[in-house]
Amino acid sequence: MKPNIKIFKDIHELSHAAAELFAESSSQAIAERGRFLAALSGGSTPNHLYQLLAGEPYRSQIDWSGVHVFWGDERCVPVDDPGSNYFQARQALLDHVNIPADNIHRVQSDTKPASAAVDYARTLKQFSAPPLEWPRFDLVLLGMGDDGHTASLFPASPIDPAEPVIAVTANYQDRPANRVSLTPRVLNSARRVIFLVTGLGKAVTLTQVLSDISNVDLLPAQRIRPTDGELLWLVDEAAASKS
Ligand code: 6PG
Repeated sequence: MKPNIKIFKDIHELSHAAAELFAESSSQAIAERGRFLAALSGGSTPNHLYQLLAGEPYRSQIDWSGVHVFWGDERCVPVDDPGSNYFQARQALLDHVNIPADNIHRVQSDTKPASAAVDYARTLKQFSAPPLEWPRFDLVLLGMGDDGHTASLFPASPIDPAEPVIAVTANYQDRPANRVSLTPRVLNSARRVIFLVTGLGKAVTLTQVLSDISNVDLLPAQRIRPTDGELLWLVDEAAASKS
């Protein structure tokens, strides 16, 4: 199946498109199901999007009282650690919008990864879409590392875990190594998955991930194939320059 890719001049244009999609997804989900379940990504790429959503025109386009945020992955660090995806989203977005505190479903990142994973699976189950034991997220935001990882699914990650949430230890750049990650079966249950990928440093990997040659062990981002949902790649010209 040909991937659905949209190419933008730069991260600014890309982030505005992502903000429009976030607002559109939230309106549709709240209208249809009374709430919008979104899994946020970490890393640097989505930060611009989060800042846009915290301001006009997007902030007032979104009914934050119906928005529930989760994380596709989290580093096991204290909640006020700059390496925390939760901390980043709070700083850039959540502290600036009227989202109820009870709608923010963070990973217990200040506990041991294995127990944080079990605990987060319990959190997901509270929003499960039977027969699934986890929610069908209305929107999952994902990034991609220059090594082909996504969320905290790295080349060394377990093959296809049965669990919805796993504890992972992985070294990537100078980021915290101990993590918790949603697994492909949860991510692939989503109604809409959007990858945000920018920068020349990811261009070769992006070409490999988007090619017809499947190599999911080496390129975990290829594991993301929604079973009954939309997969969209928002990339900038630099990241698309080798495709
Ligand atoms: C994380 C992210 C991770 C990220 C990629 C890309 O916790 O770091 O979830 O999967 O999306 O590493 O990161 P950048 O956007 O910083 O390139």
